[in-house]
Amino acid sequence: MTTSTSTSALFIAFFGATGGCTNACLVHTLNAGFHATALARTPSKLTDMLLAQGLSQSLIDTQLTIVKGDIADIQAIKNVLTNNSATTETPKLASQIISGIGGTPQMRMSLSKPMTIDNPEICATATKNIVQSLQEIYASHPSTAQNRPSITVISTTGVSDVREDVPFGFRTFYHVVLADPHKDKKVMENLVIENASLTGVFRGAVVIRPSLLKGDQNVKSGKGWQKVKVGVEDKPAVGYTIHRADVGQWICEQIVKTGGESHFGQKVTLTC
Ligand SMILES: NC(=O)c1ccc[n+]([C@@H]2O[C@H](COP(=O)([O-])OP(=O)(O)OC[C@H]3O[C@@H](n4cnc5c(N)ncnc54)[C@H](OP(=O)(O)O)[C@@H]3O)[C@@H](O)[C@H]2O)c1
Repeated sequence: MTTSTSTSALFIAFFGATGGCTNACLVHTLNAGFHATALARTPSKLTDMLLAQGLSQSLIDTQLTIVKGDIADIQAIKNVLTNNSATTETPKLASQIISGIGGTPQMRMSLSKPMTIDNPEICATATKNIVQSLQEIYASHPSTAQNRPSITVISTTGVSDVREDVPFGFRTFYHVVLADPHKDKKVMENLVIENASLTGVFRGAVVIRPSLLKGDQNVKSGKGWQKVKVGVEDKPAVGYTIHRADVGQWICEQIVKTGGESHFGQKVTLTC
């Protein structure tokens, strides 16, 4: 393990951990010995996914706190960010936040925009609510602001204003069909960057832009994080697809285990 701090003294807060990329990241994080908290609308779904990945019930009980709730619920978010210590004298904040929140794609009768998502502002809403929760914690317990968490969010390729990062064959699909979800991802990206660099709500922010996701969270099914092609916004790694398990493992290896400082402020493209 490459972290320099004792893993038991830290915890990482997860949002969207029943999604493929983030679930794979959580599995690697727990297997590396870290403690974590996770928001889940259906806690049994998250537990079942972790058990199916080979984690034992006792490891889950010891290292993970699952908070039942929706991303609209500020108190539930505070509980995740403080490992249920939000209402105590000295709340303890997560050192990092990992969010893979996203909506469910839905088809609609429109030639120009045939695809939307069930909640077209889910990523922006999630980010605003995480920011609000942290601001309220800092306001009621000013000493917590000395240990502000960093945030890593999973966005997408196809939203850059700097360089085209989508391969030619996917451009119509990405820029026309996926226009709605991409608008939401762009708002999320701007919010996390601005709340790290301007308002200082986050200690740092990393935006992950994977290419088209394939496969599921099964950590045995990817190619391995070392085979992932990595780029940044002005020099993106351009490719068609990447396995969800590889995205999750890359985030665990390069952000969770290292603290992620070398990627703060970056929009990191990942593809295979
Ligand atoms: N599909 C692609 O090719 C592609 C490409 C690039 C980026 N992305 C983005 O990458 C991210 C990760 O994708 P993924 O496929 O690994 O995961 P995913 O299946 O999109 O998972 C979404 C997660 O968000 C949670 N969620 C949704 N609404 C919520 C709410 N109101 N409150 C709390 N949690 C909520 C879901 O929980 P439940 O289990 O309760 O539903 C689930 O854990 C997503 O943002 C996705 O849009 C996708």
